[in-house]
Amino acid sequence: MNAEGQRLSHLLDFSGWDEAGVRRIFETADAMAEVLKRPIKKVPTLQGRTVATVFFEPSTRTRTSFELAARRLSADVVSFSPGTSSLKKGESYKDTLLTLAAYGVDLFVIRADAAGVPAQATRWVRASVVNAGDGRRAHPTQALLDAYTLEQVIGPLRGKKIAIVGDILHSRVARSDAELFSLLGAEVWLSGPASLLPKTPFFGARMTPNLKEALSEADAVIALRIQKERMEGGLLPSEEEYRASYQINEATLALAKPTAPLLHPGPMNRDLEVDGRLADGPRSLVLRQVESGLAIRMAVLYHCLVGGGKA
Ligand code: CP
Repeated sequence: MNAEGQRLSHLLDFSGWDEAGVRRIFETADAMAEVLKRPIKKVPTLQGRTVATVFFEPSTRTRTSFELAARRLSADVVSFSPGTSSLKKGESYKDTLLTLAAYGVDLFVIRADAAGVPAQATRWVRASVVNAGDGRRAHPTQALLDAYTLEQVIGPLRGKKIAIVGDILHSRVARSDAELFSLLGAEVWLSGPASLLPKTPFFGARMTPNLKEALSEADAVIALRIQKERMEGGLLPSEEEYRASYQINEATLALAKPTAPLLHPGPMNRDLEVDGRLADGPRSLVLRQVESGLAIRMAVLYHCLVGGGKA
C-alpha cells in the first residue's frame, strides 16, 4: 500500500508497500483504538459486509481478533472450522473458498499450512484476501501489530536495532517483521542456533548464531516460539541446550539496552524460548501486542473494504 489513499485490495505481504502506506494503517488503528475505549465498542462502518475467517491451521489470537474486529465494525462473520467441514470428506481448499464466496463473502481472512494459499485464493475468488499466516512465508498483520506496539513504547523504528531470537527458520513472523521493520528503517538482527537459521537472511536483516552480538545494545527483543510441529529430526538441539544458550531471560535481556522491551507473538512455550517470569514482568509487551492486534485488524479490514481517506 502507498500514501495515495486507494483501497487495499489484498494484504498478502509488504511487497509494493511504502512507509506512508504503513503510517495510514497506524493512523486508522489509532482511530479504532479510540472506538475500543468507548462504552459501546461498535461502529456501523462495515454494516452489510461479510467477512469469512478460514483457518486451515490452528489459531487463538489471529482468528479471535479478526472475528472481533469484524464484529466491532458491524460486519457479518462466517467462521469456517475445517475440523467439522467437508474438507474432512476430501473437498479441496479451492472448492471450499468458491463455496463460501458464493454466499457473498466480501473478504476472506485465510491461514494455511502451505505458503502461497492466500495468494492463490486471490485468483479463485473476487473478494479481498488477507493473509493470516501462510506456512513459513508471511504473517503481515502480526508484523503490523508488532511495529505499532513497539513504536508506542520506543518511538519511530528508524535507526533502531531490533533483535529477533529463536526458530527463525520456520518463522513467518520473523520474515514479515524483518520486511516491515526494514521498510520502516530499523536495523533487524536474527539470531538462534545455526540449525534454526535459514541459509541466507531475508529483507536485509543481519543474521548470527552469536546471541550476544544480536542482543548487544538492541532497542527491543522479540522472542519466537520454537515450532515443535515443524521440527524435522535433529534441527533442535535438546530443549535443555536451547534454554542454556538462547533463552531470553533476565541475564540475556541484560545484553540489550536497559530500556529494551520484550515481545513475543505467541503462542509461547513458557520457560523454553522465554523465561515465564520475564514474559509476565514489566518489560514484557506480550499482552499489549494482543491488544494492538484488535485495532490493527480493524484498520486492515477498513482499508480493504472501504479504503480512501481517514477512518
Ligand atoms: N501470533 C499468532 O499468530 O498467534 P495465533 O497462532 O494464536 O493466531
